[in-house]
Amino acid sequence: MSEAVRIGLLGRGTVGGAFADLLAERAGAVEAATGRRPELAGALTRSEGDFGEILGRSDLVVELIGGTDPAREYVLDALRAGKPVVTANKQLLAQHGEELFAVAREAGVQLRFEAAVAGVIPIVRTIQESFGVTEIDKVFGIVNGTTNFILSEMASTGAAYEEVLARAQQLGYAEADPSDDVNGADAAAKMAILARLAFHTPVALDEVVREGIEAIQPDDIAYAKEFGLSLKLLGVAERRDGGISVRVFPCFLYGGHPLSPVEGPFNAVMVEAPAITEVTMSGPGAGGVETASAVLGDVVSILAGESPVHDTREVLPVVSDVSSSFYLHLEVADEPGVLASIARLLGENEISVKSVLQRGIGDDARLVMVVHECLESRFATALEGIAELDELRSSPRAIRVIEEEFV
Ligand SMILES: NC(=O)c1ccc[n+]([C@@H]2O[C@H](COP(=O)([O-])OP(=O)(O)OC[C@H]3O[C@@H](n4cnc5c(N)ncnc54)[C@H](OP(=O)(O)O)[C@@H]3O)[C@@H](O)[C@H]2O)c1
Repeated sequence: MSEAVRIGLLGRGTVGGAFADLLAERAGAVEAATGRRPELAGALTRSEGDFGEILGRSDLVVELIGGTDPAREYVLDALRAGKPVVTANKQLLAQHGEELFAVAREAGVQLRFEAAVAGVIPIVRTIQESFGVTEIDKVFGIVNGTTNFILSEMASTGAAYEEVLARAQQLGYAEADPSDDVNGADAAAKMAILARLAFHTPVALDEVVREGIEAIQPDDIAYAKEFGLSLKLLGVAERRDGGISVRVFPCFLYGGHPLSPVEGPFNAVMVEAPAITEVTMSGPGAGGVETASAVLGDVVSILAGESPVHDTREVLPVVSDVSSSFYLHLEVADEPGVLASIARLLGENEISVKSVLQRGIGDDARLVMVVHECLESRFATALEGIAELDELRSSPRAIRVIEEEFV
């Protein structure tokens, strides 16, 4: 009989419970693949188990409690005790990644976290291993299934944000308190982790600029459809001007974009590099079984002795002003000269218009346009000027657009 590997399970909720079941079900397969027979050394919840005792009995620790406290202390203790750790905890990694990686390195043990980003999609492994020495330019995608479900539903039904959010909660795609999903905080934590891995540089969570989907109006989605655009909450981490930019924002995509057909609670991540052109992976972004499956994959990698590329190579500055293309929605008085005033303000800021649509609404007009890529600071200046025009009937609404055409 092969040697047993004892796994200490911290947290036995949605993912922890599914992991315990999957481990029991796939123990034979794990043994066949790694030569080690996995067994649970004990499980810790709020009402059962003692961390110290479980740690003492474990060869490897799986942290599925979530949050930073007490998860951080438990993971640090396990690493310092020389036990490899697998976690699905994005907040822990995004907020304390540098500390945890340093302790893991010092102790010479692995810290694996595939399930912390994009659920079952093996993006962490792909960046760390397959692209471990590739000069990555950009990692971006849909890393929050709740918001993708909401935006897909708003587009297909025309319903308002609040109505669709309530439906998402009923279906279990959104939590009772959906704030971290809809305000972009969840996606920001995932992008901080991905940016760190892709660019081998420390990335602080508060350096990730984020914008959520709470202000999106159904008519923005409807008008944009006329330009062939669909709306996604995107996380983007890219090299820009000698530094990096890591951001989360709602964004329109043209129909040919690989992320455009990703609907519902799915996630998808793209990696771009000169050596690989572009790679796209998509799949379920959450779910107990799916996440547990990613966790078990990490356990198997550790038992198989695989070691990811996991180093800091340089400290890259965060670039704050980047260029983007924008969709702009304006309600203005239907009078001569209004369009000319708007065009002048855009022109003064070196912004050129790609497409325009005008619709009458009584004595007013709705003006919807897409402008070509420009510096975001210049767009903000133009928008301030437009907002001050006497002919403007409501606050201007702007949403970023990815202009890039894919064939
Ligand atoms: N759910 C998903 O689809 C999903 C997807 C990707 C990543 N994740 C990540 O996976 C992790 C677990 O998520 P989950 O959805 O499984 O959470 P969950 O259902 O709330 O389960 C949390 C577990 O941790 C235990 N726990 C909480 N506080 C504790 C404490 N102070 N001491 C000991 N045990 C404690 C809970 O104990 P009780 O049983 O006593 O309450 C419960 O067993 C999180 O980091 C989450 O971000 C989840």
